[in-house]
Amino acid sequence: MKNYLKTEFQAQSINEGVARMIAAGFIMPLDPTLEAMADVKTAVSEAVTNAIIHGYEEKEGNVTMELWTEERLLTVKIHDDGIGIDNVSKAREPLYTSKPDSDRSGMGFTVMESFMDTLHIESEKGQGTTVTMTKKL
Ligand SMILES: Nc1ncnc2c1ncn2[C@@H]1O[C@H](COP(=O)(O)OP(=O)(O)OP(=O)(O)O)[C@@H](O)[C@H]1O
Ligand SMILES: [Mg+2]
Repeated sequence: MKNYLKTEFQAQSINEGVARMIAAGFIMPLDPTLEAMADVKTAVSEAVTNAIIHGYEEKEGNVTMELWTEERLLTVKIHDDGIGIDNVSKAREPLYTSKPDSDRSGMGFTVMESFMDTLHIESEKGQGTTVTMTKKL
């Protein structure tokens, strides 16, 4: 079975929970394990939080989230049109954060990488950021 859903929402922290619930609802028909469900929700939260806090620096903007399933393979794509990342490989390093004073631990991408099967980051300074993750459910 194939399925697809696209949603666009304002970059605001309350919408992080909305995005988590949408992702959870989307995969529900596949009857995932509780662990897989929790992994997907956590990965979505991290990516959406990054879009809000880093991409738009808590200013106005929209975030899009696309979800696909093909059989039991889930793909999640989260996009912002924010400031972008000039050094993606550095940003992926565990404990690297550009905001050490605002209580960030620099573990978001590491969490996404470990909770999902694949993580792809497409970004350039000033060009926004697209994070694509896949997971076999
Ligand atoms: N959507 C984005 N737009 C711009 N920069 C980003 C985006 N996502 C991540 N970054 C950059 O990559 C760095 C690493 O992100 P990561 O999520 O791993 O850590 P963090 O957000 O700083 O801390 P934590 O997620 O642990 O709270 C960020 O500090 C930021 O500089
Ligand atoms: Mg983060």
